Amino acid sequence: MPADLVGPRPAAHDGDDKITAQDLGYTYTTRAGAQVPALDGVDFTVRAGEFISVVGPSGCGKSTLLRVIAGLQDPTSGSVAIRREHPGRPLTAPVFQEYSVFPWRTVEANVRLGLDAVGTSKAEAAPRVTEWIRRVGLEGFEKSYPSGLSGGMKQRVALARAFITEPEILLMDEPFAALDAQRRKIMQEQLLEIVKGKSNTVFFVTHNLDEAILLSDRIILMTSRPGRIKRVYDVPFPRPRSPELRADARFAVLEDEIWRDLRSEVEMEPHTALAPAATAAVGTARRASR
Ligand SMILES: Nc1ncnc2c1ncn2[C@@H]1O[C@H](COP(=O)(O)OP(=O)(O)O)[C@@H](O)[C@H]1O
Ligand SMILES: [Mg+2]
Repeated sequence: MPADLVGPRPAAHDGDDKITAQDLGYTYTTRAGAQVPALDGVDFTVRAGEFISVVGPSGCGKSTLLRVIAGLQDPTSGSVAIRREHPGRPLTAPVFQEYSVFPWRTVEANVRLGLDAVGTSKAEAAPRVTEWIRRVGLEGFEKSYPSGLSGGMKQRVALARAFITEPEILLMDEPFAALDAQRRKIMQEQLLEIVKGKSNTVFFVTHNLDEAILLSDRIILMTSRPGRIKRVYDVPFPRPRSPELRADARFAVLEDEIWRDLRSEVEMEPHTALAPAATAAVGTARRASR
């Protein structure tokens, strides 16, 4: 399978489409043989250079979608295609919620890893490593090992390692979820700064609506499992953006609108934790009680 194509080849791309999902489905088969449909009939396009966020109830398939786009899992139906524009750059780089740093490598060596993978010489890598360590606020910790860092600092190492390779698409799965509220805000601001004037396409999974609005050009809302696209919102703010945007009246209106749509999905969430037979029974009971 070519590196730039995940799953069967779909129809040709239009114009500036970067990621195209067509009737995408993913069903897990558990060890006991049960089928767990996580995604079903997902269609969307992400434009080149767009910052897109995906929100939805927990367990609706957001991480599954991200892993399929990353090529870590093949779709069980439909397809995802990615248009490659810069053959010299990595196509995707994922950042996960867990701090995926290597404990036996220093901060510097962890950040350099991405460049090692694409064969950048040490001399060429060194200033870029220094620059990215500065950008994520880790100056002075170059020689530290992850065991000596807080969770937030480890996550900043992971971010620097993903960004330094200038991937065509950054895939971020709730990257700030484990950070405290203040560090999270700082990281959001740093991310705004980092993507400013860059051509990266960003696919960002979050459960935080405020974060989604601040950062994104569009927001995809997914239904509860099996995840489908419920609605796509345009975020009407030009770039570059600053956190002061939160004071704009339209910000609160949009947050409220998305929350109302999300809320009805979240209220269905207990179903996803139940066995199929029990789910059907509860569903019937709820409908009957209305
Ligand atoms: N390996 C697996 N085997 C069976 N079911 C899984 C597996 N991984 C995830 N699931 C189920 O698929 C659904 C979607 O999971 P996930 O993509 O992690 O959701 P989200 O990221 O939106 O919380 C969940 O109901 C989850 O329990
Ligand atoms: Mg997830």
